Amino acid sequence: MSSPEKIQTLGPDDVIARLRGLREKQPVPFSAFYSSYLGGVVTDPSLMVIPFDDHMVHRGHGIFDTASIVDGKIYDLEAHLDRFHRSAEASKLTPPCSRDEMREIIVQTAAASGQKKGSIRYWMSSGSGNLGLVPAADAETGFFVMIFPGLAYDKRFYTDGMRVMTTTYPIKPALYAITKSTNYLPNVLMQLEAKEKGLDNGVFIDADGNVGEGSNMNMAFVTKDGVLKHPRFDKILSGCTVLRLLELAPVLVTQGIIQDIKIGDIPVEEAMDSAEMMLIGSSIYVAPVVEWDGHVIGDGKPGPVSKAMLQLLEEDMKAGEGRLIDIPY
Ligand SMILES: Cc1ncc(COP(=O)(O)O)c(C=O)c1O
Repeated sequence: MSSPEKIQTLGPDDVIARLRGLREKQPVPFSAFYSSYLGGVVTDPSLMVIPFDDHMVHRGHGIFDTASIVDGKIYDLEAHLDRFHRSAEASKLTPPCSRDEMREIIVQTAAASGQKKGSIRYWMSSGSGNLGLVPAADAETGFFVMIFPGLAYDKRFYTDGMRVMTTTYPIKPALYAITKSTNYLPNVLMQLEAKEKGLDNGVFIDADGNVGEGSNMNMAFVTKDGVLKHPRFDKILSGCTVLRLLELAPVLVTQGIIQDIKIGDIPVEEAMDSAEMMLIGSSIYVAPVVEWDGHVIGDGKPGPVSKAMLQLLEEDMKAGEGRLIDIPY
């Protein structure tokens, strides 16, 4: 940061030059960004900006969602758009365009990126216009789409398994947990807390002592008698990945890899006594957990069910009938 005595009033050219300078200092692999405010796509990361007075920035009045690009196709976008619209309604945000237009903007932004693999994150914001709480009278809801390589996870998560801790941060109240808003402070703090302790993630526990979810992923368990268990979805985010896997998992019962599938409350003691534990989400896919609060889960090695679930997901991402949108590069 420049020292306060030297603060200058900048013109548009200075601003562009300085935004470029920022990106040179810290290069980012973002390949395309759509902004409804600009009415177009930019591919220069220095231009991927939104007005500071947008209420998503200074009040957290915004929502988002993330879908994947796999082999030049967008996977399961409709499920993510369903959740995006549910989040918009819960946040009293009026979409700035129809769902069809939104899908088309996402597909065209992905095409402009040229990327065959990665993530698409998109946001709806309550707009700019004042620094109050409720949107300004003439505020226009914003819609933004970013194409980026996706979050990178350590290969060790999949080969050796993850080590997690019960977070000391309270789980979000149900309404905020089921809404994918831009208020991720508890999720950020839980990841930082785990990192500070040399661990890979945290576990939110609800007020009744049942397992909730991780920082940006859901959590499933396999009991010692082979039952795949997942918490109810009324107090945690409805993960598109785990919901799809729960639809696909009956094939694992047929194959004898698991005995049954159950959705319900999972008390911590029961969860700790599992044969397997796994984290599931559209960025991590399916990653086994082998240690929780220093307690070994199962035999301390990634188990067969987490491997089978990962395989099911990867196959669905490649072949999922009716779930893939071709990107017209
Ligand atoms: C809090 C939280 N739980 C669960 C998930 C998993 O959801 P999905 O499978 O749709 O990525 C996410 C990621 O979006 C999340 O942020």
